Amino acid sequence: MELKIAPSILGVDYGRMNEHLVELAPFSDYFHVDVMDGNFVDNISIGAPVVERIKSDVPLDCHLMINNPHRYIKDFAEAGAYSITIHAEASLHLSDDVQKIKDAGCKACVALNPDTPVDKISKVLPMLDMVLVMSVHPGFGGQAFIPEVLEKVKWLREHYPNLDIQIDGGINEETARLAIEAGANVLVSGSYILKSDDPAKAAASLRP
Ligand code: DX5
Ligand code: ZN
Repeated sequence: MELKIAPSILGVDYGRMNEHLVELAPFSDYFHVDVMDGNFVDNISIGAPVVERIKSDVPLDCHLMINNPHRYIKDFAEAGAYSITIHAEASLHLSDDVQKIKDAGCKACVALNPDTPVDKISKVLPMLDMVLVMSVHPGFGGQAFIPEVLEKVKWLREHYPNLDIQIDGGINEETARLAIEAGANVLVSGSYILKSDDPAKAAASLRP
């Protein structure tokens, strides 16, 4: 599987968002847009009106950390999302919500929190374009990678050889190696890239 780098824009300078994104674009396969509702997670970030203002050719991968996400799928699709990720723990009718993402014209992804087993998504797995394995408890950037989640990545890669498997949380040069070895091919990285003195070099270091 082709390796993709998706910088999380949670730590972007929102006062000059589009200029900042121009700097990140050359080494970004996707921009990972973290959307937090202050309910599913203990933090609030941005909503669809801000996503709509993003001017970039880099596809927007919107990670919705929102309870009952069906309410907002259309908004993010219309705001320009390329892919939409909803959480297995946050959706009441997961297969309906996945279908809703596809009907809205976006790639569909479901995320699993570190303690959520893969079983939780077994019914929808064949419908998905991507699975997101969270390697931190969602809500904040800059947390430490939880290595136990790699077992889920391995299982998914073994059973779904062509599925995009994304990993998110605590990804740096060292943890990227572990994630790739387990079978992940879409690496989200926030603070490691954005807080680096040389973001391009940091992003390149994630590739083996
Ligand atoms: C955490 C978010 C992540 C976060 C990653 O809830 O989903 O995307 O921004 O940040 P780092 O790479 O700093 O863990
Ligand atoms: Zn995320």
